Amino acid sequence: MDVELIRVEGVDEAIAVAAEFLAQAAAAGAQIALSGGSTPGPAHELAARLQPDWGRAGVWWGDERCVPPGDERSNYRLAAESLLDLLREPPAVHRIRGELTPQAAALEYDEALRGVTLDLALLGIGPDGHTASLFPNAPSLDETGRLALAASPGLEPLVERVTLSLPALASVGHVVFLVVGADKAEAAERAFARPPDRATPASLVRSREGRTTAIVDTAAAARLP
Ligand code: 6PG
Repeated sequence: MDVELIRVEGVDEAIAVAAEFLAQAAAAGAQIALSGGSTPGPAHELAARLQPDWGRAGVWWGDERCVPPGDERSNYRLAAESLLDLLREPPAVHRIRGELTPQAAALEYDEALRGVTLDLALLGIGPDGHTASLFPNAPSLDETGRLALAASPGLEPLVERVTLSLPALASVGHVVFLVVGADKAEAAERAFARPPDRATPASLVRSREGRTTAIVDTAAAARLP
């Protein structure tokens, strides 16, 4: 499936597009997977302002760091502070329990995901080309059965992770990458303008039957054709 590129001027415009996708999905009662990192927080906040009623939606995560939910490295905590705490009507929250062992948390999350269709996943890309917690050339890229699995990061924060697998991400209805900044330009080129490659996990993540969209600002798009 081709990736639909949405090119925008700068970070603020990129965040606005991502927030609009989130708000529309929430209004439609979608099952929405969030991620961590520094980029999504402002998109969450804007989405909460655009659509304060997430009462019919469900919130999941593309990945989680294996830390307690109150830890500042927790992706759940990021979403709680930037989105969930700001809503008038909260969604059903399906968090990955990072306080468990990675294996136990992955198993529990895998079971929770069975029979669920994720409608939207908002993902980031690292400068190394990772997405969710699927890291370059990692064994997790070979997973064909499990929907969630434990993963070890090659970069900060160096805590164990739980991540959606490639098959789980392929079954998402709309995969949205939010990619901003010059340090993402090379990864964006490898992810969206080159053949799929295990060295760039984001290049392997495409919605099988739905849409895959990349929101890129001018700096991140510098090496795209
Ligand atoms: C995580 C993420 C990860 C993130 C990218 C991009 O938990 O670390 O889910 O995959 O999306 O590393 O992060 P930035 O937004 O900080 O660039």
